[in-house]
Amino acid sequence: MSFDTTPIDSKPAARIEGLDLSQPLEPAVYRALGQTLSNCPVLVFHGQDLDATAFHDFTRGFGPLQEHVLHKYRHAEYPGLSWLTNVAADESVDEFGVRRATTWHSDSSYTAAPPALGILHAYETPPTGGGTLFIDMGAVFDRLAPALQTRLRGLIGLHRHGAGPGSEMYDNSLSDDQAENHRDVFHPAVTRHPDSGRAILYVNETHTHKFEGMTKTDSIALVNDLVAQAVQPDAIYHHQWTPGDVLIWDERSTIHRGEGDYTPTERRIMLRAIVDQISIRE
Ligand code: OGA
Ligand code: MN
Repeated sequence: MSFDTTPIDSKPAARIEGLDLSQPLEPAVYRALGQTLSNCPVLVFHGQDLDATAFHDFTRGFGPLQEHVLHKYRHAEYPGLSWLTNVAADESVDEFGVRRATTWHSDSSYTAAPPALGILHAYETPPTGGGTLFIDMGAVFDRLAPALQTRLRGLIGLHRHGAGPGSEMYDNSLSDDQAENHRDVFHPAVTRHPDSGRAILYVNETHTHKFEGMTKTDSIALVNDLVAQAVQPDAIYHHQWTPGDVLIWDERSTIHRGEGDYTPTERRIMLRAIVDQISIRE
């Protein structure tokens, strides 16, 4: 079983063809997809049709899944899957579902061991708008000024759920007894990708709120400056969703956000898996 990889323009993304993700895949295919991700951090599949069980089986093949911090959206049968939806149980608009994740972030950077992969499968999508945007933070680090690169290599970032400068939408989204609401985790501002060895700028405006040894004000200014430097239109892969799409992205080397610019009464429903670490069976 093999697949074709077609790079998308000059973007950090590629289209993958020749795989039916609803069928069991050989470990060699998972390994090849993992290798493709270490050069190209967003993989795009069209025309897939996976119910929750098939999506769980497919995503679980990369490794253990993380149970997401927002309990309300977890899939009832598969807690490793969560819904991204703007439709509430009574069919009214879920306002939080419309606004969530529309500022730049990498998923769960507020955990001590951040995850490896994010995977989304779209079921219902608005006819226009409502895309998802991705940036390769290895490429961003490479084009920073050398003096700033050197300074960042010495910095440790503090991450906490929704504590960064661009995250008001997460106010009150966690309950008081959830540790993620209170606890900072520490990640170097510059990490190294475990497969490619590449230097990555690991800072995001949603969860990074301070650097060790810096004031809050200076820290926020630096986070905002880095995000402004990252968000160059040419560097962004903009995914416009069609039902049946599956996206896999490398959480270690990218930031992403929902575009959020769609009519809230148009339904937008996807299932998401977060792969904690890649561990493919032999
Ligand atoms: C998320 C997320 C992107 C989107 O919920 O973490 O990144 O387009 N969503 O909804
Ligand atoms: Mn996300």
